[in-house]
Amino acid sequence: MANIISQDNNDGLCPVAVFDSGVGGISVLREMVRLMPEEDFLYFGDSANAPYGTKSTEEVRALTIKHVESFLSMNAKAVAIACNTATSAAVRVLRGMYPDLPLVGIEPALKPAVEMTKDPRVLVMGTPVTIREEKFRHLFERFEDRAKIYPLPCPGLMEYVENGEYDSDEIDAFLYDLLKDYRGGRINAVVLGCTHYPFVTNSISKVLGPGVRIFDGALGTARELKRRMEEAGVLKERTGWGGRVIFKNSDPSPEKLALCERLLRQQ
Ligand code: DGL
Repeated sequence: MANIISQDNNDGLCPVAVFDSGVGGISVLREMVRLMPEEDFLYFGDSANAPYGTKSTEEVRALTIKHVESFLSMNAKAVAIACNTATSAAVRVLRGMYPDLPLVGIEPALKPAVEMTKDPRVLVMGTPVTIREEKFRHLFERFEDRAKIYPLPCPGLMEYVENGEYDSDEIDAFLYDLLKDYRGGRINAVVLGCTHYPFVTNSISKVLGPGVRIFDGALGTARELKRRMEEAGVLKERTGWGGRVIFKNSDPSPEKLALCERLLRQQ
């Protein structure tokens, strides 16, 4: 496990910047740390402005661009948008602005869900922005003739994780109500199209039952980032030494930083 430094100091580092609207992107960061343990990571969560998923697309785009600019001013050598919502709103613009930067986003893992499920009937859970954006519409259209796809905006769900609540009777009750139409065999796969949701996988599984497989895009995104960093020649050599993880958050409370550390250690 990498050394965690929760402080506002990354002097001398050229880190990989990982961004989310809050703590959810840590579900992606933990895969990146496993895959590239010698890298230094700067994780920034914009919890003070969360949730992004119920804002306008323009607002999300402006916030995302502003944060990426600040990572570059801190010498980030690569950037991962570990937020489906921010990816939908801003990744295309950012690629145009920074064509040489190793930059990845995340999108709902519909492809593996369709390819790895027999007779796929797939529920896609995401934020309202992700589900309504053009990027998801294209993804939907790519797979709609091979699967029954049910997109489900889930406003209110990320807040539980953001508040440090990912295993409680309240969240079970919330999910039971949210997912009640999909119980009893209507679906056989779920895609977690928001990076906060993997932290409530157990509750989702409990509500939907054991016959439903759960997919998320964390590992795929980590692999894609590694590939792009390798291609750009910025991947560190394997040294056997663990890199560092620095947490920054627009909500600087000690509780938020403690939650970040707890989520990174969660398996
Ligand atoms: N974690 C974010 C995502 O992957 C969004 C949560 C939010 O801010 O609404 O979409």
